[in-house]
Amino acid sequence: MKVLVTGGAGYIGSHTVVELLQAGHDVVVVDSLVNGHAEAIERVQDLTGRPVDLEVGDIRDRPFLDRVFAAHTPSAVVHFAGLKAVGESVENPLAYYDVSVGGSRVLLEAMDAAGCHKIIFSSSATVYGEPQYLPYDEQHPTNPVNPYGRTKMMVEQILGDWCAADPACRAISLRYFNPVGAHPSGRIGEDPQGIPNNLMPYIAQVAVGQRPALQIFEDDYEARDGTGERDYVHVVDLAKAHVAAIEALEKHAGHQVVNVGRGQGVTVLELVAAFEQASDTDIARLIAPRRAGDLPSFYANASQAKALVGWQAELGIAEMCRDTWNWQCRNPAGFGASQ
Ligand code: NAD
Ligand code: WQD
Repeated sequence: MKVLVTGGAGYIGSHTVVELLQAGHDVVVVDSLVNGHAEAIERVQDLTGRPVDLEVGDIRDRPFLDRVFAAHTPSAVVHFAGLKAVGESVENPLAYYDVSVGGSRVLLEAMDAAGCHKIIFSSSATVYGEPQYLPYDEQHPTNPVNPYGRTKMMVEQILGDWCAADPACRAISLRYFNPVGAHPSGRIGEDPQGIPNNLMPYIAQVAVGQRPALQIFEDDYEARDGTGERDYVHVVDLAKAHVAAIEALEKHAGHQVVNVGRGQGVTVLELVAAFEQASDTDIARLIAPRRAGDLPSFYANASQAKALVGWQAELGIAEMCRDTWNWQCRNPAGFGASQ
């Protein structure tokens, strides 16, 4: 199958392109490179020995998309392109509605015009908001608490309406929990700009000596060891979920939503300990005040992914830490200046 991957030069997108190629699909990437790297696509081609067409442009640019669809005639789309920083979405919500909601609408219009009816969408477990019960299943009410989460919710709703209007249209929204890790080759991985917002890249930068200490936001929650508990999923497992989801579109009509997690909560202290073991380093840490908007516990019921998509995670916390460490050591400056 020929698959168009928006945002394929980014973190999760580049890993998914590898898995799509290795599963025998052909890939064209559309990416504005606002937060992605052409170098990631070069490395994906090295890793897989397969060519990838990179079309640099913006998903909000309809004439550009029309040219790409006409030139490549993809039969499915995997849609990663978007902005993803929760704090930035609070400060600049209109940019998030423009890129993530507006961009998705333009993409669907271009798909309609080209007769392409299948899409996998990068949604987020952040659509659930505060837990009414744990683990979160797909029936849990949605109540996103920031503009970023609301854009994900809105795109899911648009996809539901798009599928309802035309029985040929099929969509799966994958609600990711906490993606971490890197390709085991150490050639592609997450390259955050500036100070990382997320725990795993922050730990990795402390381990390699780029930052003095990890701040642990709160160690006094009631659950477990008092630190926040999350459902980390290896980015290679997550990438494979997209390949499985594309194949599942053949069987499932309409719009489906599917959690992508391991179904297991891991605390900040547990992740730090696993990283210390994987890297043979000590992670300096200090306790800091709770970060606004953080929840104590957040993890998936992942059974729908197995039932509907035929996917389940295979890699554990040790592999996530090992592969993050390998990527960080081999690419201390990310894609900018690495071996
Ligand atoms: P990323 O920033 O590495 O990748 C996004 C890619 O989209 C980048 O390469 C960027 O250049 C591109 N892009 C952004 N705006 C664009 C536009 N208007 N036109 C074309 N390309 C554009 O982020 P990621 O971590 O790989 O996330 C991918 C998707 O998964 C995002 O939609 C994100 O919201 C979603 N998601 C990520 C996480 C996470 O923790 N990383 C969790 C849940 C959901
Ligand atoms: C994990 C745990 C922190 C950093 C975010 C987005 C979510 C999704 C994934 C896109 C929490 C603690 C963190 C640090 C810490 N993205 N922490 N010190 O907040 O679960 O989810 O990324 O969809 O929408 O909100 O992930 O990695 O930031 O935090 O103690 O320096 O680590 O308090 O308990 P989070 P995270």
